[in-house]
Amino acid sequence: MKIDIVSVFPEYFDVLNLSLFGKAQARGLVEVTAHNLRDWTHDVHHSVDDTPVGGGAGMVMKPEVWAECLDDLLGLGAEADAPEAAAGTVASEAGAGTVAPAADADTSAADTDTVAPVLIFPNPSAPLFTQRDATELSHADHLLFGCGRYEGYDARIPEYYRAQGVDVREYSIGDYVLNGGEVAVSVMLEAITRLLPGFMGNAESIVEESYTGANALLEHRQYTKPAVWRGLSVPDVLLSGDHGKVDRFRRDEALARTNEIRPDLIESLDCHALDKADRKT
Ligand code: ADE
Repeated sequence: MKIDIVSVFPEYFDVLNLSLFGKAQARGLVEVTAHNLRDWTHDVHHSVDDTPVGGGAGMVMKPEVWAECLDDLLGLGAEADAPEAAAGTVASEAGAGTVAPAADADTSAADTDTVAPVLIFPNPSAPLFTQRDATELSHADHLLFGCGRYEGYDARIPEYYRAQGVDVREYSIGDYVLNGGEVAVSVMLEAITRLLPGFMGNAESIVEESYTGANALLEHRQYTKPAVWRGLSVPDVLLSGDHGKVDRFRRDEALARTNEIRPDLIESLDCHALDKADRKT
């Protein structure tokens, strides 16, 4: 999977060289390039924002700078206004006339002859990003994330690229406001890429997790050894060696915990996924 990220703080994504993500990069499973939006500015101050039209506090990210950057990374040339120049066409001279981005530009979408990227903007006012979205996006070949800052980005940016035929998504990662999109992109990126075949050491650990599968429940609690620690015991059934009983215990606990903590998940359960014993719980 190819991943491009645009941010005014591209260094933020240096952490992607660590841990499982770092290993996945080294093995070529994911190829990440973090671009600096300011590389597409032309003024001495490299400004990317301006005051909000209609008044109000803070600054809004300017559409012109984002457009030069995204045209380049999406492989859309000057003819992009024409509907037939929609994403998916491969631009041989992407971004002609723009300031070339720094050394990382050669990994942009412009030099791939494959599928157009899905363009994703984190936005606290957008629909919630869920495991379902992570699963769907894990099948994409190329993702392009745009990190907003300040009071956000000009609303015409996603609107324009949608009109060009680009698959544009806007997602919130939760009902709280962050200082910018970088953390939200990191969250989405981790949720998506850990679903890639070969990313995790143990594929089973993905299958059994909360929010996945036809009957998404919060996961049962986990224990390790010793069986008694500081006077607290592991539930006996887990030590019984009876796999049927262990499975039933875990399933009951998952149902009870979900019912208590996240009743909304129980309400959206596929009732066909419930067996007779589940219904008693
Ligand atoms: N940017 C700021 N807050 C955000 C949130 N909760 N989700 C996505 N992007 C954001």
